[in-house]
Amino acid sequence: MSECLSRDTDRRGFLRDGLMAVAALTAIAGDAAPLHALTRRYATGLVAGPAISYDIPAADGATIDKPNRVILVRYQGTVHAFSLECPHKGTMVEWQGDKARFYCPKHKSTFQPEGSRIQGKAPRGLDRYAVRIEGGKVVVDTGKLIDQEKDAGGWASAGAKVA
Ligand code: FES
Repeated sequence: MSECLSRDTDRRGFLRDGLMAVAALTAIAGDAAPLHALTRRYATGLVAGPAISYDIPAADGATIDKPNRVILVRYQGTVHAFSLECPHKGTMVEWQGDKARFYCPKHKSTFQPEGSRIQGKAPRGLDRYAVRIEGGKVVVDTGKLIDQEKDAGGWASAGAKVA
């Protein structure tokens, strides 16, 4: 018992000394970026994924980028980007051009061209990525996957007008 207490005390002392050392270094650094700013920059770097640029689709239809697991769709004047993985169990969905829909071969869920669920075991529409038009290209932020159930507003607005 006393050994545990001693270890806890040692650990607390170690943490306290470490925090004091960080505070001292921050004070010495003067105009260097404060620790919380560095932490935030680091955290942002972890969250943000690669931005992938695509040509703006000239007409309605779907483009599947398998290596990056991204679907790019132009539908009724708006470009959307989705994860290629079905939101049920992660199977890669397929584009059925003749039926103008996405289809999951695993449990037969179907989705509208803009990603909303039509029917099947999938609990929601295809997960979308944030997109923007920049320099005449569609830029897809693959670091931010938007789940329709968790962020209905973000999902609804994840698209870029092109017409
Ligand atoms: S994995 Fe797609 S519906 Fe089940």
